[in-house]
Amino acid sequence: MIKSAWLLIALQTVIIFNIYGQIRSLDFDPQLAPFYHGVASGDPSNDGFIIWTRVSPEPNQTNSISGTWKIAADSSMQQMVKSGVFSTDSSIDYTVKIRIDGLQPGQFYYYEFESNGRYSLVGRSKTAPIGDNDSLRFAVVSCAHYEAGYFNVYEAIRKRNDIDAVIHLGDYIYEYGRGEYGQFFINDREYEPSGEAMDLNSYRTRYSQYRLDADLRRLHQQYPMMIVWDDHESANNSYADGAQNHDSNEGIWEDRKLASIKAFHEWLPISQVDSNDNKRIFRNIKYGDLASIIFLDTRLYGRDVQMNFTNSSIQDSNRTILGSYQENWLFNALKDSSTQWKIVAQQVMMAPLKIVSNNNLSFVNEDQWDGYPKARERLANFVIDSGIQNFVVATGDIHTSWANDLPLDNYNSNTGNGSYGVEFVTPSVTSPGLSFNLPPSFIQATNPHTKFVNTLDKGFIILDVNKTRCQAEWYHINSIQFKTSQTSHATSAYVINNERHLNITQSISLASKNHSAPFGPDIPNNPSYINENNNPTLLSIYPNPVKDLLHLQLIINQNSTLNKIQCFDGLGKQVFFKVITQPTNGLKNITINTAPLESGNYIITMVGDKFKYSRQFVKH
Ligand SMILES: [Fe+2]
Repeated sequence: MIKSAWLLIALQTVIIFNIYGQIRSLDFDPQLAPFYHGVASGDPSNDGFIIWTRVSPEPNQTNSISGTWKIAADSSMQQMVKSGVFSTDSSIDYTVKIRIDGLQPGQFYYYEFESNGRYSLVGRSKTAPIGDNDSLRFAVVSCAHYEAGYFNVYEAIRKRNDIDAVIHLGDYIYEYGRGEYGQFFINDREYEPSGEAMDLNSYRTRYSQYRLDADLRRLHQQYPMMIVWDDHESANNSYADGAQNHDSNEGIWEDRKLASIKAFHEWLPISQVDSNDNKRIFRNIKYGDLASIIFLDTRLYGRDVQMNFTNSSIQDSNRTILGSYQENWLFNALKDSSTQWKIVAQQVMMAPLKIVSNNNLSFVNEDQWDGYPKARERLANFVIDSGIQNFVVATGDIHTSWANDLPLDNYNSNTGNGSYGVEFVTPSVTSPGLSFNLPPSFIQATNPHTKFVNTLDKGFIILDVNKTRCQAEWYHINSIQFKTSQTSHATSAYVINNERHLNITQSISLASKNHSAPFGPDIPNNPSYINENNNPTLLSIYPNPVKDLLHLQLIINQNSTLNKIQCFDGLGKQVFFKVITQPTNGLKNITINTAPLESGNYIITMVGDKFKYSRQFVKH
């Protein structure tokens, strides 16, 4: 069953162990078994939404895991509306994603999954309205660097209970390895895996870690989310054919890009607009007659490489940040939209940003629309020439708070004339701020179209939309260094219907949409909690069947250690073992080189001080 010389090699080198440190006990709730990563919903339509969960494989389950889902009108899941079955396996990392339709517009619904007699948390979601509706309210977020702080922003949004949905503008995860980004780190929030995420296995592990975060899990449970990626779902300052943070010794960019895209679709409740092309995430989500939310991908779909401002080619008329196909799609979406407000939800800042440095006034960030001047000009001209009204841009990426008019050459900062639209920029959830730290007055002196800027605080935007005006309200979180959901209102900015410039106000829109629909409950509808009794929890074993590398992701419970791993062939003969010399509990990733094994069935056994845990895999 085993090739000659393999055994000797096996004992020394073939098992690549990556044993990582302890995670916060808060992040892992055994009551949720096997739905440890909670539930989520997204991309509402007027008759449904996507529902999502993940079923972590249990020891006795076969590779394919099946179960059921249910939609109900009430949080106790008694008034059933729809139901169905699902099946998942290692090829999609045991994730489950189902498009629900046939529901009523503008209504809250509840959903739940079941597998092997165990129930998930009950999620709450809401369909989009149809036709005439008076008001909408969204939370807008971006940029959650896990190591830099607690996801208090997500908890603060959840508690409000007054939004229709969450708009996430990307950097949902970061690809960096431990300690590689920023100066401030929370001790118990070290990245898994410890190195940079750059292949399917490591991207999946990073999403798994994020989705175990209780604040993020609770937010997903209570609201639908509409999300686009920014750069860090793949690599820093990515573009179609590469990224600043992708070196040639890190493999082929296209492979990395496709791996990041696959993990993104697996782990997030996003609909795949084109079933033949998962690279396409630009899409138009309509909220009745009041608003269209037009999501763009300014990263991976068509962006040309970033270019220094001193390079004259930056003015090349063919230069693009969207790619020609997406750019045409955007123009058509704007032109054909019958909704009052056109909210373009995208990643990088559209308004110009010039700063005085060494007595020179110059652009500072070639990664934002400033680095693609002709593409921005084409968009601005299209908006004006086509008479597009109520053009509102929602932006993330820059980790700081901005309210901008979008100036044409004839812009007048006193009257707002010469603006083609407005831009609301949300601060980060936790990610560190700008590389320069300048007072707002200094920034506004050279950027008179910027009506509000705050470069220090973390937080989110509440986007409140009605027929009279579209208003953004910036809320800043008191701290990301300790757990709190206290926020303070910084400012508000609004644009009046059929105007093209901002007004600043300190007023807050009334929480008229404070929902009467209760939250989905905090614990699943399981008859009783099954004590895991110190057994480890296997979050992943894939691929199965395996060819070369078998990836295991497991959690060793508190007060328990993993001592060794054994592998047996179909006749019960041990084909290798490995003593674990760094016995720590917490989240662990283990990669096993199975290339030398002959085809057949194997049992892998993890032996700890208080458990023995086996799982079958097939070698092809
Ligand atoms: Fe970011």
